[in-house]
Amino acid sequence: MRSELQRTAIAAEVRARVAQWRRAGDRIGFVPTMGNLHAGHHALVAAARARCERVVASVFVNPTQFGPNEDYAAYPRTIEDDAAGLTAAGCDLLFEPTVAELYPFGVAASVRVHVPLLGDGLCGAFRPGHFDGVATVVSKLFHLVQPDLAFFGRKDFQQLRVIERMTRDLGLDIEVVGVDTVREPDGLAMSSRNQYLSAEERARAVEIHRTLLAMREAVGQGRDRVAVEKAALDRLTAAGFRVDYAAIRCAEDLAEPAAERREAWVALVAARLGKARLIDNVLI
Ligand code: PAJ
Repeated sequence: MRSELQRTAIAAEVRARVAQWRRAGDRIGFVPTMGNLHAGHHALVAAARARCERVVASVFVNPTQFGPNEDYAAYPRTIEDDAAGLTAAGCDLLFEPTVAELYPFGVAASVRVHVPLLGDGLCGAFRPGHFDGVATVVSKLFHLVQPDLAFFGRKDFQQLRVIERMTRDLGLDIEVVGVDTVREPDGLAMSSRNQYLSAEERARAVEIHRTLLAMREAVGQGRDRVAVEKAALDRLTAAGFRVDYAAIRCAEDLAEPAAERREAWVALVAARLGKARLIDNVLI
């Protein structure tokens, strides 16, 4: 029994609706987003649909996860298209709060959630405070929505790990589910930030995914991990990227692996091309 997409900016209304569904015995799935939705986001809604009777999505461009020189103001806001896409994807409720609704005491005075170590390296090192903002807003959303399951893309691999850790460490009774990266036909990971690329940059952007696949293959052939990272950095730099990192880490905790491979690894890249900062990863 599918109902129309309901929309609200009021947290108390989300709570009341979710409580009603839960009383009826429904499992609640939650998909937090910043909007400008594409097939990657819709795949999260589909994954939620597959496991839950009710799906709640949020669209909120979260100010606390953007650095002072980042794209908070320019971030694409396309809420009516987003609502249409969520309807088609089978979402039941769209939570579209204002900044004041999520930060009732103001952004500067907000409680902060910090996930040390996991959130400090990789993107955390290049975007200071970014994962504090993410963990803060996701814990607020988790408390307001109170879902049974929450769905996050593996594209943002470090973010997924930070949220898993935050959820377990705070003892929240929410199952965090990772969903595979949805890609363009040429392999580029779908992202709202791809639209910052010129046509020429867009054609070159696929080099990130190709480099990641080459890293996986080189590790599979037994090549030294640090040499593989260096080769990836050189390859992307030669292709015109400004590389934040090209790294191989333990997939579980993002620690630097010991020389001997005993666990699953992940290859991760963050690189800037024109106005866009692009990230991607592949499991090894
Ligand atoms: P946003 O970038 O809108 O992404 C929302 C969710 O969609 C994240 O879980 C992200 O990993 C997932 N996603 C994005 N592109 C994807 C792709 N190509 N394939 C699969 N999943 C993809 O990530 C955020 O928003 C924010 O940091 C948020 C968690 C909402 C907190 O503000």
